[in-house]
Amino acid sequence: MNKWVKISMGMLLAASLISGCGQNSKNTSNENAASGNNAGSTQTKTLTLGTSADFPPYEFHKVIDGKDTIVGFDIDIAKDIASSIGAELVIKDLPFDSLLNELSSGRVDMVISGLSPTPERAKAVGLSDIYYKAEQAVVVREADKDKFSTMDSLKGAKIGIQTGSIQEDIAKGIEGAKLTSLAKISDIVLQLQSNRVDASIMEGPVAKSFVQNVKGLAITDAKPEVEDDGYVIGVKKGNDDLLKQINDKLAELKSSGKIDEYVTKAAELAESK
Ligand code: ARG
Repeated sequence: MNKWVKISMGMLLAASLISGCGQNSKNTSNENAASGNNAGSTQTKTLTLGTSADFPPYEFHKVIDGKDTIVGFDIDIAKDIASSIGAELVIKDLPFDSLLNELSSGRVDMVISGLSPTPERAKAVGLSDIYYKAEQAVVVREADKDKFSTMDSLKGAKIGIQTGSIQEDIAKGIEGAKLTSLAKISDIVLQLQSNRVDASIMEGPVAKSFVQNVKGLAITDAKPEVEDDGYVIGVKKGNDDLLKQINDKLAELKSSGKIDEYVTKAAELAESK
């Protein structure tokens, strides 16, 4: 069994542990705390992050000092945002397609999860400025690398994509493609390895990370086009104070070169055993 398969199996357990911890130790006042509304309380102010930690190098699980930990450049950014508003960061690992609902219902305060801005998402939640950009990539079994070297060659192919992602929309636009939507990228990789799907579309850095860590996969020359190739942070619609604090912090992290630094560090971490 390879590393990513093992990691994906550990994820379920980790996810339940992590979301459990957040709630037990923090009480139920996350929403108030994040909006700065905990005057007179002795509790620590918390900021709850919703993320789908199946996405190296953005957010992923890694055993550090013997402990399963969620790491990645999105997580570094989240930590900086939390400390800039004097809050303790609580991380909830959730299925990607549930994240925006969790925001709207107030169960998480912000979503940092390699989230691409779309007009529909902008209607549903508040979206920050773009903090990073990357291109899309097509991942296949190594032997099929030349067979799927253009977007046209994907017509009629079996394509695995993450439920609720923009890649799902890209794949829907491919004539005759048969789609398999799954909750986790690691599940899509398993489907690729076992010949149940022939290709997947994912962000370039994520594709690179999986191809490096999973034997027998390759990135093709096909270039999926998206309208907006940047990533944003989501907050609950109307939570403009938090959105402003986030945008201020992002501007600072971008201009100081910190984000590029976090990306490099996370990519190295995703590669190391
Ligand atoms: N950028 C894509 C989107 O917003 C995929 C993001 C998936 N993120 C994740 N952590 N699995 O739809």
